Amino acid sequence: MLTDIFDEDMTLRSDRLILRRLAKGDRDDLYEIFSDREVMRYYDVLPFDDIAQAEEMLDRFIGGYSDRSMMRWGIEYNGKMVGTCGFFGFKEDCKKAEMGYELNSSFQRMGIMSEALGMILGFIFDKTDINRVEAYIEPENTASLATAEKLGFVREGTLRQYECCRGGIIDITVWGMLRSDRQKH
Ligand SMILES: CC(C)(COP(=O)(O)OP(=O)(O)OC[C@H]1O[C@@H](n2cnc3c(N)ncnc32)[C@H](O)[C@@H]1OP(=O)(O)O)[C@@H](O)C(=O)NCCC(=O)NCCS
Repeated sequence: MLTDIFDEDMTLRSDRLILRRLAKGDRDDLYEIFSDREVMRYYDVLPFDDIAQAEEMLDRFIGGYSDRSMMRWGIEYNGKMVGTCGFFGFKEDCKKAEMGYELNSSFQRMGIMSEALGMILGFIFDKTDINRVEAYIEPENTASLATAEKLGFVREGTLRQYECCRGGIIDITVWGMLRSDRQKH
């Protein structure tokens, strides 16, 4: 089953990154990320201006491990939690999940997120029978589009005027990675 991943030890390591469970102690690093206007530019929520919002978000991430709705990793680089990434929207019947991610702007363009996403994709494709991972990305979010493309996601199309966001209605591009795409990449 897809949600069997919640029974696995989710800690993943590379030469420079540790991907691990988020914990209450990550509050300040999480606030640094989610209060940054640049990071939040393409999000449907305003940048945080109260540390309590970071606490609530952490509670949601941590709650996702126990109710098996969301698996979010903290990305640790040189002892600092610089970003998060993970899966949510698990659909057991059609073997798919959605992927989300964000990185502290001081650590962007160093290859950190493509490395971290490569690690968690390896984890989910190896440990479960998932067939499809998808990502929904705004057409202007160049960094995220380039990241999805670099990982081998396929741009499948544009959902026109799909989402109510920041006071307007916006298009969203859909990206998918199938198990068979991954074997080819
Ligand atoms: C998207 C994001 C996570 C990318 O993280 P990152 O660690 O900087 O990305 P990487 O360094 O691994 O780069 C991956 C690819 O994207 C490209 N890229 C990254 N930022 C870019 C930018 N601002 N403009 C153009 N290309 C960019 C890189 O050049 C690289 O491609 P290449 O190796 O072929 O040159 C980061 O920009 C971010 O946190 N953005 C705000 C939050 C967000 O939008 N999350 C996604 C919501 S859908």
